[in-house]
Amino acid sequence: MAVATQIPYLLRAARGEKLNRPPVWMMRQAGRYMKAYRELRDKYPSFRERSENVDLAVEISLQPFRAFQPDGVILFSDILTPLPGIGIPFDIVESKGPIIQPPIRTLEQIENLRPLEPEVSMPFIREILQILRREVGERATVLGFVGAPWTLAAYAIEGKSSKDYTVIKSMAFNEPTILHKFLSKLADAIAIYTCYQIESGAQVVQIFDSWAGQLSPQDYETFALPYQQRVISQVKAIHPDTPLILYIYGSAGILERMALSGVDIVSIDWTVDMAEARTRLGANIGVQGNIDPCALFGSKDFIRDRIIETIRKAGLRGHILNLGHGVLPTTPEENVAFFFETAKHADELLAGSA
Ligand code: CP3
Repeated sequence: MAVATQIPYLLRAARGEKLNRPPVWMMRQAGRYMKAYRELRDKYPSFRERSENVDLAVEISLQPFRAFQPDGVILFSDILTPLPGIGIPFDIVESKGPIIQPPIRTLEQIENLRPLEPEVSMPFIREILQILRREVGERATVLGFVGAPWTLAAYAIEGKSSKDYTVIKSMAFNEPTILHKFLSKLADAIAIYTCYQIESGAQVVQIFDSWAGQLSPQDYETFALPYQQRVISQVKAIHPDTPLILYIYGSAGILERMALSGVDIVSIDWTVDMAEARTRLGANIGVQGNIDPCALFGSKDFIRDRIIETIRKAGLRGHILNLGHGVLPTTPEENVAFFFETAKHADELLAGSA
């Protein structure tokens, strides 16, 4: 007799099923707000080692799963992880963030980039995802993630985190042909990488175009959206049933345009009202979010009220409860625990406060 395999809860929501409560996970749920993570970081100070050593990356991915039982377990990695594989080395420096030296500034550098061969340059990703699937079974959904071309290009060209993106925008507005060439190469590499994650066990993949919200709507349509579409159409051609989520920070002005990317779910930040986002996006697209990460510095009553309000506004079909951006490093761990505990009993709270 065939063994009935249960579809994990988050995947059911991602496929549009109506549920009694939304599934819940947190962007950056593995990280510095957790004491267990800080202890490991002190022992292994290199971010690249923590994310590229299979045992360490598996352990870190599972720390929040063991502590809070979220419905989603995200691979511990970074959006920059595939870059060395195409010829762009990087490092992550404590309190500075990502550093790319030398930054990508010329056509010659772009022409010298290699196509991505994940099995050659990053086989650790396959191992990590395979182990995560085995470890969590049907108790949670394993999420992969990638950076979108515009955001990866922003890091590679600026060379570090930026406030105003003057270098990449100068290239966009003065030498667009060079930038388009780079964005095309990144899109093809990221499509290959997304498929590799899916083939290695990722059941849902989130695409982070975190800094596309820095573009005017017109420039979003020129430099970000077409390359999101290029990644998504290539992935959907091979894996049509794997739900894809798109996150942009500061997306209130471009929500409708995000839906044109071809993703299944749009992840929104807290500057948009969830009910208005639903109206603007329409019934055919799911939503994720959108509680202010700073809500976790509020009282327990405050956190509970925000969870209930967000769920009421989103409705019970096609919503994944999350923060509107990553959990902040100084967040009290106890409040994260309370957030998950409350969210996982939201069906009772919704019935009680109806
Ligand atoms: O969600 C998870 O738990 C998975 C972990 C994850 C990391 N980076 C680990 C990480 C994810 C999903 C990312 C994605 C990522 N990386 C994004 C998109 C998400 C977003 O925040 O908009 C971006 C823009 C990056 C680039 C990046 N990596 C930055 C800006 C930084 C420094 C941020 C900081 O707060 O210092 C990193 C480093 C990084 N990546 C850390 C973690 C946990 C912090 C460094 C550390 O723990 O040593």
